[in-house]
Amino acid sequence: MEDKIKAIQEEAIAKIGSVSNLDDLEGVRVDYLGKKGDLTKILRGMGSLEPEMRPVIGGLVNKVKGEINKAISQKESQLKEAAKKERLKMETIDVTLPGNELKVGKKHPLTLVFDEIKDIFLGLGFTIAEGPEIETDYYNFEALNFPDNHPARDMQDTFYITENTLLRTHTSSVQIRTMEGQEPPIRVIAPGRVYRSDDIDATHTPVFHQIEGLMVDKDISFANLKGVLIKLIKELFGDDREVRFRPSYFPFTEPSAEVDVSCAACDGDGCRVCSGTGWLEILGAGMVHPNVLEMSGVDSEEWSGFAFGMGVERIAMLKYGIDDIRLLYNNDLRFLKQF
Ligand code: PHE
Repeated sequence: MEDKIKAIQEEAIAKIGSVSNLDDLEGVRVDYLGKKGDLTKILRGMGSLEPEMRPVIGGLVNKVKGEINKAISQKESQLKEAAKKERLKMETIDVTLPGNELKVGKKHPLTLVFDEIKDIFLGLGFTIAEGPEIETDYYNFEALNFPDNHPARDMQDTFYITENTLLRTHTSSVQIRTMEGQEPPIRVIAPGRVYRSDDIDATHTPVFHQIEGLMVDKDISFANLKGVLIKLIKELFGDDREVRFRPSYFPFTEPSAEVDVSCAACDGDGCRVCSGTGWLEILGAGMVHPNVLEMSGVDSEEWSGFAFGMGVERIAMLKYGIDDIRLLYNNDLRFLKQF
């Protein structure tokens, strides 16, 4: 009997030594110390032993139980310690690992130019005006002094929705809407999308952007127009650029001018960028034609004004040295990331 108890002890200690998790350890405890365990069976069978053997066997069983219990608690703390170490190892942060890169978006070059021009004009006391892209013939042409069949309409062929509604060819229509909607003095810029039925090439797209400017007040002269545009161009392209006003024609301004900036690539000497002229055309401008003022309800005896309009793509291309307008619309990240 004593040998049997010793054997149970050895077997139990060996099993405790070999378990690798707390669940299995609990299994061993139940097998040896539980109600149906081997040692309990022996205690239950004590009645059949000789009376003088009972205390001997009882004592031995209890001692063995104690040993097994001790071995179990030791193993239990070992397993718990190991589990804790494992958890800590998994939770450690390797501060030497590179961080997660946050990819920050960039503004599109056209947005950059819009923002810059808006800032310049807001600083000069202008506000922002808007008009619809689907426009009537009246606002796009008629009220801008392009009568029906006027040859200047040919330069701005567009997409017609009906005979009288079309996609606006320029932001000049906003001049009319603004003058109809508010009394002078007026100082607005009108940024927006415009359309022409042009074929796509390195400098043309059928959809592009313009910023219009309009100032109407008492005694506005061409000198005011020059002052504002020279300020704009120097802010946009740098103080060392020259500005040139060339006589031109628009039905809605008189006199009219086309405005050039000296070529930054050759400093005005003439190169491939400026086709040898030393100048780059960037906008159209002029004094608002009295017919236009009158048609919009502004007394041309009392008020005068100037207007200008520029292509935003063209300015972005010159400012950032972009040689193909299509790059602005291809959404190629290699291009867009550069701004
Ligand atoms: N609307 C003209 C164009 O698109 C530009 C312009 C605007 C000219 C205002 C004079 C005054 O070509």
